[in-house]
Amino acid sequence: MKDLQPAEIVRLEAEAVVVLDQRRLPDEVAYLVCRSVLEVAEAIRTLAVRGAPAIGIAAGYGYALAAARGDDLDEAAAALLASRPTAVNLPWAIAAMRRGSQDPASLAERARALHEDEVERCRRMAAHAAGLLAPGTRALTHCNTGALATGGVGTALGAIREGFARGLVEHVLVDETRPLLQGARLTAWELERAGIPASVVADAAAGSLMARGDVDAVLTGADRIAANGDAANKIGTYPLAVLAAHHGIPFYLVAPSSSVDLATASGADIPIEERDPAEVTDRFPARNPAFDVTPATLVTAIVTEDGVHRPPYRESLAVLAKREPLREGTRSG
Ligand code: MRU
Repeated sequence: MKDLQPAEIVRLEAEAVVVLDQRRLPDEVAYLVCRSVLEVAEAIRTLAVRGAPAIGIAAGYGYALAAARGDDLDEAAAALLASRPTAVNLPWAIAAMRRGSQDPASLAERARALHEDEVERCRRMAAHAAGLLAPGTRALTHCNTGALATGGVGTALGAIREGFARGLVEHVLVDETRPLLQGARLTAWELERAGIPASVVADAAAGSLMARGDVDAVLTGADRIAANGDAANKIGTYPLAVLAAHHGIPFYLVAPSSSVDLATASGADIPIEERDPAEVTDRFPARNPAFDVTPATLVTAIVTEDGVHRPPYRESLAVLAKREPLREGTRSG
């Protein structure tokens, strides 16, 4: 099946931001048309568009839409920034949009450039990370880190796709990813479209599958990586990293530099989103932290578009602040 194109995932039109509504997948491919910045913020909050890089891209387009409508740009930025707290890509994208000319045409161009840059980061990350995989790899992944989450080929799932294209990936175990099933609904759908052999597993099955020797590598994305390499990602990532360490399985984080937050010293400083408990159960009291933090000590390597970063991450990630950005205005950190 044809790959999802970047503009099919999220795009800016003359009077709207259009997103592929991820809440309706895999049953239905439907588009949500957001005609104001508040509608874009709501689409991000309700996960119609989700995944760290895709959230940043949608926010950039939302800001450009606000400029095209003649809205107050301070209010537009505040509404977008309030939509979700954990993925640093959102404040990163808003900061990039607020640098330089605030003329509507320039902002539309900058938002589209930001999207194109994420597509390129995905391509480079996937190539670097696939280089870590051995022939016959049975990979385990969590949440959705593919095209839907990034507007490009993906982070961890992009690496898996590239590994499959190189003949290295044999099978993918897809955590269903409680409570909202981004793995079972979105990752499984993307892998099926790509023709990559995959099986959905309950999150709780990961440990016993590792113990049986069914997992060769764990690859996940990240929503915010602190300067010391601690990383926030979808709830359930931290236990996977603990299990991988226990079983001697490499645990790789694949994320663009737009998800690296060098201004945040460690995972303890990353804001963790608590979502509506009704997403877990609407019958009983519940807690619903949407992300957890994996300590850097459990991470075998972090892969960005720059290459493979190894511990100590405070040093290996710091190079991201020094190197040339893909283009002016899109430097991370
Ligand atoms: O709550 P979500 O679905 O936006 O969470 C997304 C994730 O945790 C992804 O794994 C992530 O953004 C990292 S890579 C795209």
